[in-house]
Amino acid sequence: MPSKGKRLFDPAPMQRLVVVGLGLIGASFAKGVKQTGYFSEVLGVDLNQNSCRLAEQLAIVDQAGDSLEVCRTADVIVLAVPILAMEKTLQQLHQLELQQVIVTDVGSSKTQLRQAVLEIFGEVPPEFVFGHPIAGSEKSGVTAANAELFAQHKVILSPEPNTQAQALACVKQLWELLGAEVEFMDVEYHDQVLAATSHLPHLLAFGLVDSLAKRNENLEIFRYAAGGFRDFTRIAASDPVMWHDIFLANSEAVLAQLDAFTHDLQQLRTAVAEHDGHYLLGVFTRAKMAREHFSKILARRAYVDTMQNHDLKFIANPGGHVQGTIRVPGDKSISHRSIMLGSLAEGKTEIEGFLEGEDALATIQAFRDMGVVIEGPQEGRVVVHGVGLHGLKPAPGPIYVGNSGTTMRLLSGLLAAQPFDSTLTGDASLSKRPMNRIAKPLREMGAVIETAAEGRPPLTIRGGQKLTGMHYQMPMASAQVKSCILLAGLYAGGETSVEEPAPTRDHTERMLSGFGYPVEVHGAISKVESGHKLTGTKIEVPSDISSAAFFMVAACIAPNSEVVLEHVGINPTRTGVIDILRLMGADLSLERVHEVGGELVADIRVRSSQLKGIEIPSDLVPLAIDEFPVLFIAAACAEGKTVLRDAEELRVKESDRIQVMADGLATLGVKTEVLPDGIVIEGGQPMGGGEVWAHGDHRIAMSFSVAALRASQPIIIHDAIHVATSFPDFLQLCEKVGMHVSEEHSL
Ligand code: S3P
Repeated sequence: MPSKGKRLFDPAPMQRLVVVGLGLIGASFAKGVKQTGYFSEVLGVDLNQNSCRLAEQLAIVDQAGDSLEVCRTADVIVLAVPILAMEKTLQQLHQLELQQVIVTDVGSSKTQLRQAVLEIFGEVPPEFVFGHPIAGSEKSGVTAANAELFAQHKVILSPEPNTQAQALACVKQLWELLGAEVEFMDVEYHDQVLAATSHLPHLLAFGLVDSLAKRNENLEIFRYAAGGFRDFTRIAASDPVMWHDIFLANSEAVLAQLDAFTHDLQQLRTAVAEHDGHYLLGVFTRAKMAREHFSKILARRAYVDTMQNHDLKFIANPGGHVQGTIRVPGDKSISHRSIMLGSLAEGKTEIEGFLEGEDALATIQAFRDMGVVIEGPQEGRVVVHGVGLHGLKPAPGPIYVGNSGTTMRLLSGLLAAQPFDSTLTGDASLSKRPMNRIAKPLREMGAVIETAAEGRPPLTIRGGQKLTGMHYQMPMASAQVKSCILLAGLYAGGETSVEEPAPTRDHTERMLSGFGYPVEVHGAISKVESGHKLTGTKIEVPSDISSAAFFMVAACIAPNSEVVLEHVGINPTRTGVIDILRLMGADLSLERVHEVGGELVADIRVRSSQLKGIEIPSDLVPLAIDEFPVLFIAAACAEGKTVLRDAEELRVKESDRIQVMADGLATLGVKTEVLPDGIVIEGGQPMGGGEVWAHGDHRIAMSFSVAALRASQPIIIHDAIHVATSFPDFLQLCEKVGMHVSEEHSL
């Protein structure tokens, strides 16, 4: 193992692998690698003769014995002995004076092991790669060996600054051969993460089972223990000796986690003792959300996907008719605002029809982080226990709002006026979007906000500033900017008014009134003054016209089609899509128009029609701002040319929607001319299929799904992961009305 005579890692198959320690992990590794045929020979070493015999019999290794001498001829050695036996094994290896051998381990804690390596070898040899597969089973021993144990599991490698690149590449490749996903982490961080996510839960499971068992010697109580007990304590059946080793080896990191947890447990105890239901509800609702987020990661790997470049593809098959009556999910803009204003209100706010999409969930999480107790969402029902305008608490860390521009921009207005500092961060797409449009006017009101270069997120907002009301003339038609300033205005001295260059969605103004907060709207100017309060209320969120728009266009362009979209919000600041489709000749009618909680709703019936190209009137642009991607598909299917101008805002949405749509349309054979502030689309030509890229933009992915109705070949839509931000059940509804869109995950 000393570093002299280094040789390059040869990616070609190697001669000899020696696995030291034939327990579950060592034997599973040996068995898996042996099956790949990567090494000419796989040898095992174990002090237990019986394990050696079984390993040979079960073809886990070619040969096994109790002497480390075989390591002299190894290319790679994997140390899979119990953690507390590691030091002795390392000493014996040192005595063998091995050279040029790659050594790795599988131990679940690392700091102590690293210390032992340093003491024995004087350094961490460059060919030594610390490793830890995050996989296991309640079964133990060589007979439990499972060649698939590591497939789709993570393996953490902890290279040192001097680790030889070839050794690292070799160990990484071996794990990948077994189907594992390799990640890198330094030794200390590894131990902290594992102490929190693995060691502490094991300690609690062992501890709880023992605590109950010793109080009930005949174990009678377990007869009444159903699923909850079984689920919580499954891991208490793990190997006691191994876990005893782990706690002794990783005691420092475990103690830190245990102390933090003991403190939290004590607070729960106090809450139970004092009948503090509010506290309990806060803990349980936050935990439920976190657990569901975690289940989603496991189930569909969505969050990991975006971080690790996994692709979620939509495959939209050509043709079809669109028929049926559907209800699309709740309005995104109204859902966000219901949580924000509900949190700032005094008393309870009960919400129905809430959008359970990732953007709106990010807003819930943000307010939970700031101490607001929020129940749900469950089947669209949410209960917000408002804390009043001055009741928010500092979040424990940066507030992560995912893909949601609305959350980041509206929250900034609120946070600028709080007594505490906050940081807002988002995903890769949001981190590219402009925030100066809110930072600049907020600074004029006295806010202190730092942004990353060119006004991009993250935003750091300093608390304790005294804001002053102002009149702000918005340079762009943006409801997010308007709402941000109005929310800051709830706290700013005097009056705050915003003047918009063209009408934009007015949900903030309507909802503030619904919460009893006075708002004046005169033409293009909306005005609030501080010093009033919001009172909890009931909110019914209508279906989102922006989501309905996909099916409106689908029914227009597909032959022999008719859909009814139920209970859609038709607030006049949102109905540009209806007006534009009608100008294009769509057969579209509104039925059962009525008002719900200050917002107009209707059922929208749409039938197939031959659309024609138009010049889109500029005054309709802000009223249809989110619907242009799918309107471009309508334009591609219309007879003649469609011209859109005055729509430069489309370039700073979740993607540059003008360019990204033009690129995709070009793939389908549709001619377009891209303008700085819009696009010209030559409609009416036959559409082909092909591969298009949504660039992580939900509305682009859904628009090309609709396009397939008129395409001659399938359309493969890459990077569709964010559809769940606004429309979690899009694919199910597509299926319901007869569109053939499916999803496919790939690396
Ligand atoms: C929204 C306003 C619009 C819209 C976004 C939601 C809102 O953004 O595109 O999806 O809820 O206020 P801009 O304010 O940037 O136009």
